[in-house]
Amino acid sequence: AEPTAGQLRTPIVAVLGHVDHGKTTLLDTIRGSAVTEGEAGAITQHIGSTAVPLDVISDIAGKLVDPDDFDLPGLLFIDTPGHHSFSTLRSRGGALADIAIVVVDVTDGFQPQTIEALDILRRTQTPFVVAANKVDTLPGWNPDGTEPIQTAIDRQSDRVESDLNERLYEIIGELSDEGFSADMYWRVQNFQNNIGVVPLSAMTGEGVPDLLTVLMGLSQRFLKAEMSIDVGGPGAGTVLEVTEERGFGTTLDAIVYDGTVREDDRIVVGGVNEPIVTEVRALLKPKPLSEIRTEKEFDTVETVAAADGVKIAAPDLDDAMAGAPIRVVRDRDVEDVIEEVQAELAEIEVGTDEEGVTVKADTLGSLEAISGTLEDEEIPIMHAEVGDVAPRDVRMAATADDSTHQAILAFGVDVLDDARRLAEQEDVDIFEDDVIYQLVEDYDEHVTAIEE
Ligand code: GTP
Ligand code: MG
Repeated sequence: AEPTAGQLRTPIVAVLGHVDHGKTTLLDTIRGSAVTEGEAGAITQHIGSTAVPLDVISDIAGKLVDPDDFDLPGLLFIDTPGHHSFSTLRSRGGALADIAIVVVDVTDGFQPQTIEALDILRRTQTPFVVAANKVDTLPGWNPDGTEPIQTAIDRQSDRVESDLNERLYEIIGELSDEGFSADMYWRVQNFQNNIGVVPLSAMTGEGVPDLLTVLMGLSQRFLKAEMSIDVGGPGAGTVLEVTEERGFGTTLDAIVYDGTVREDDRIVVGGVNEPIVTEVRALLKPKPLSEIRTEKEFDTVETVAAADGVKIAAPDLDDAMAGAPIRVVRDRDVEDVIEEVQAELAEIEVGTDEEGVTVKADTLGSLEAISGTLEDEEIPIMHAEVGDVAPRDVRMAATADDSTHQAILAFGVDVLDDARRLAEQEDVDIFEDDVIYQLVEDYDEHVTAIEE
């Protein structure tokens, strides 16, 4: 149904963290289905989203969340695979996510992607909570089901409890090293100044009620003003992924963060060369509480209202880019909307120099994040683009004057076989990684080696 004026929109919650620290399992427990089991090799292949209505949240949280205390419709969770940069999740000049959960394996501690997630959250000033996950793996842990963490801790031996505390303080210390003041969530008075750490097990469900309570509180308290936006206006969204769907051709997996999209809407989407103007053919929605990624059968819907995940089927989407803006035209002048999309793309576009390295990335957001890092390191960029590494990128990189610049930094993309062969012939070095700072570090080491 079309939303009514003044209705609060669903807050968007990004789930971030290092590979295997339990992001998908956590969402899985929350939605009570077994997405992890349907996933190839239990590794999330793509970004997906899951809408969890308020009544489900209060079912899980039990007495911690009274639905009467909240006006929010629920929460929209976006899962980010550890190998995929969360930086795709952008909206108009900022972060797409209203709040975030950083999942940290309580025994594994901080890892490269944990730090990368924190860097992005700091840059985008996104409020977040830390889920200290896998408490059930502590030696001697006596597990039960979904219950408040305090109840679970009361059941543990003194030794297990002090082991847990030690590890939690380590995480609090690491957050402090990253410039965040943090404490156990039950000691945090003001979540705006302090990061709450919630010990939990995504597997057993212990502590999950606490996490949902903190999330509801965070969204309610800090986002209320922002949420009662004009949810009925022409929709704005972000492309998470461009995918082929049988019977529909190229489709967009998108998050609508503002207004509505209708099945007869004309839309403008950021493309590789220029904005694409097209008509929606179908809006495909995963069934409630199911995962957009693994759902084979979609429901078609007439309207989607912010915030929600939707698959958009429309002609001419082949050149659409992950991370690009989507705008509904509706009763506006299409030229104005094209300009709006262009302006937003220009904002993301990466400044390039006459001389420098070549960068290829999987999404606009990751391209932007890598460029920011390279700029900080004073490494110039000659060419930066979304897409796999193709022979023409190698030819481009080979034209750099300085031999240290005859390099391609490839983030989250494939290197085509003929590009790899050409790179060997042309003496162009290709660096590949799924962690931005490791990619840049590899390149730095290479430069140091050449210079010595
Ligand atoms: P990527 O999507 O690859 O980044 O990983 P992820 O963060 O989504 O991790 P995932 O949920 O796939 O979990 C990785 C492994 O850890 C799986 O084998 C899970 O069963 C296991 N796991 C996750 N959470 C817990 C937990 O709380 N306790 C225990 N014992 N195992 C867990
Ligand atoms: Mg996952």
